[in-house]
Amino acid sequence: MPTIPMGAPALLWIALLLFSPDGMSAAIWKSKVSLNPPWRKILKGDAVTLTCGTNGSSEDQSSLWIHNGTSFTTNNSRWHIVKARMQDSGEYQCRIKGFAISEPVYLNVISDWLIIQASAEVMMEGESLFLRCHSWKNLNVFKVIYYKDNKALKYWYENHNISITNVTEGNSGIYYCVGRIQRLPYISNKLKIIVKKPYPQSNYFWLQFLIPLLVVILFAVDTGLLISTQQQFTLLLKMKRTRKRNRFTDPQPKPDPPGN
Ligand SMILES: *[C@@H]1O[C@H](CO)[C@@H](O)[C@H](O)[C@H]1NC(C)=O
Ligand SMILES: *[C@@H]1O[C@H](CO)[C@@H](O)[C@H](O)[C@H]1NC(C)=O
Ligand SMILES: *[C@@H]1O[C@H](CO)[C@@H](O)[C@H](O)[C@H]1NC(C)=O
Ligand SMILES: *[C@@H]1O[C@H](CO)[C@@H](O)[C@H](O)[C@H]1NC(C)=O
Ligand SMILES: *[C@@H]1O[C@H](CO)[C@@H](O)[C@H](O)[C@H]1NC(C)=O
Repeated sequence: MPTIPMGAPALLWIALLLFSPDGMSAAIWKSKVSLNPPWRKILKGDAVTLTCGTNGSSEDQSSLWIHNGTSFTTNNSRWHIVKARMQDSGEYQCRIKGFAISEPVYLNVISDWLIIQASAEVMMEGESLFLRCHSWKNLNVFKVIYYKDNKALKYWYENHNISITNVTEGNSGIYYCVGRIQRLPYISNKLKIIVKKPYPQSNYFWLQFLIPLLVVILFAVDTGLLISTQQQFTLLLKMKRTRKRNRFTDPQPKPDPPGN
C-alpha cells in the first residue's frame, strides 16, 4: 500500500515549515557583542568594553574574538579598550564555545574635538534613546546646541545629555551638536537615527496561526491524495483483472498478484 511514499513529502513540508521561520531557534543560540558604554562612534583616547554574551547568560567564559577578520582566543568574555586608537576601529565578532558566531558590530574611532553619540542608531518604537555631545578628553563644552534635521532641538550653556524615552517614528532624523571648547566653536559629526515600527512582531503573530493552518491543509491534501490514489489503484487492478480474463494470450509480464 502506498502509505509511506505519500506520507513522506508531507512530513518533509512540516519539518521545513517548523524550522524555517527566520531561524528562530538559531537566533537563541547566537553569541552577541555588546558595547559598554553603548556608543558605536567614539573619540581617540576613549574607553570601551566589548562583552561577548549569549541570550540568557553573560558570565565569564572563554571566547573567540574576531577583529577585522583576525581571530583571538581569550579566557575572558570581555575585551577592554582603555585608550582607543584609530586601529581599534572596524568589525568585531565573537563566539562563546557551544554557540553560533555573533553578528558583526562596527566600532568607529574618530579623531576630532566634538562628536555626537547615540545609544543606538536603529531602534524600534517604544525603546529609549540617549544622545551625548562628547568632547575630546572630556574637555568642557559650553553653549551646546543639539540639532535635529537642521533645526535647533535643545540649547544649554553647559553640556547635557538628551534622553528620550519611548521613541516614535517622528524621532528619526539626522542629529548633530555644536559647542565651544576653549572658546572656539566646534561642530560634531552628523548621525542618522532610524526608528522603526515593530512590524516583525505582527509577522510572528500571524505565523503562529499560519503554520498550524498550513499543516492541517497539508494533511488534508495528503489524505485526499492517498484516498484518490487508493481508488485509482483498485480501479486499475479491476481493469487489469477483466482484461486478463478477456485476453489469455497477453504476452506482457504479469503484474504482482494483489493480496486479497
Ligand atoms: C532571548 O532573546 C529573545 C529575542 O531576542 C528575547 O525575547 C528573550 O527575552 C531573550 N531571553 C533571555 C533570557 O534573555
Ligand atoms: C587567563 O589565563 C591566564 C593563564 O592561563 C591567567 O594568568 C589570566 O589571569 C587569565 N585571565 C583572566 C582574565 O581570567
Ligand atoms: C580595522 O578596519 C578598520 C576599518 O576598515 C580600520 O580603520 C582599522 O585600522 C582596522 N584595524 C586593524 C587592526 O586592522
Ligand atoms: C552624559 O552621559 C555620560 C555617559 O553616561 C556621562 O559620563 C556624563 O557625565 C553625562 N553628562 C552630563 C552633562 O550629564
Ligand atoms: C509609548 O508611546 C505610545 C504611543 O504614543 C503609547 O501608546 C505608550 O503607552 C507609550 N508607552 C510608555 C511606556 O510610555
